Amino acid sequence: MARPPEIRIAQDSRAWAAAAAELVHSLGREAIRANGRFFIALSGGATPEALYRALTSPVFADRFDWSRTTFFFSDERAVPPDDARSNYALANRTLFTPLNISPAQVYRMAGESHDPQAAAKEYEQQLRRAATTSRSTSPIIDLVLLGLGEDGHTASLFPGSPALRDQQSLIAVTQSPKDPPTRLTMTFGAINRATVVLFLVAGSGKAGVVRGILDPKTDAERQLPASLVAPEKGRLIWLLDRAAAAELSNPSTGTSA
Ligand code: 6PG
Repeated sequence: MARPPEIRIAQDSRAWAAAAAELVHSLGREAIRANGRFFIALSGGATPEALYRALTSPVFADRFDWSRTTFFFSDERAVPPDDARSNYALANRTLFTPLNISPAQVYRMAGESHDPQAAAKEYEQQLRRAATTSRSTSPIIDLVLLGLGEDGHTASLFPGSPALRDQQSLIAVTQSPKDPPTRLTMTFGAINRATVVLFLVAGSGKAGVVRGILDPKTDAERQLPASLVAPEKGRLIWLLDRAAAAELSNPSTGTSA
């Protein structure tokens, strides 16, 4: 039985970014203490940039030893790694480069591949090889970061996508209603095995869909992709800013971040 989500609400975007960085550091320390290394999957879109800027800021940059961290991606667009739309490109420019992360620490989804299905299979094999330990027959990622789209999608799991029902694969190819159309994405098989799933959501534009996911009124809302994120044994944390939490009937349900 999945545990209820932990809802944390930051008062503004600055506090939100600092809370996100603090959370990544503390969850990273927990993973390294427990297993000697930290496996994190980065989310896509624009929201993570504020987290990356915080992690590489003078306040945070020297407070965590990244040498034991391996980076994965929750999803990627089918574009080259230097394309402005690439989730890897954003992380490389604003996180990996400023932190001097070695390329050996980063597992990039091959968005440039002309055969996305083959790229998905290859990434799944890499993920299984890198993140499967004696503790489990399937890979366990310590922290999966996720964003939230206004249509209730997360990673590149869009409403109506066959990947929502994929019980076999850990990485799938999906079609997005937004450009770029073709995506590679972790499925719930990879996401819901994580030790911690952290939704990073900010801005008033997300307030309606946040309410639909965290306080659903209809079966349609309960079936939205982000509503189906339910870590089997792990923690589910939502880090919202006050704007994104504005339509929650009882924002005090969240602890202040
Ligand atoms: C992507 C993301 C996607 C994103 C949401 C929110 O590749 O676009 O994985 O799920 O997290 O669409 O995007 P924003 O952060 O840009 O609002």
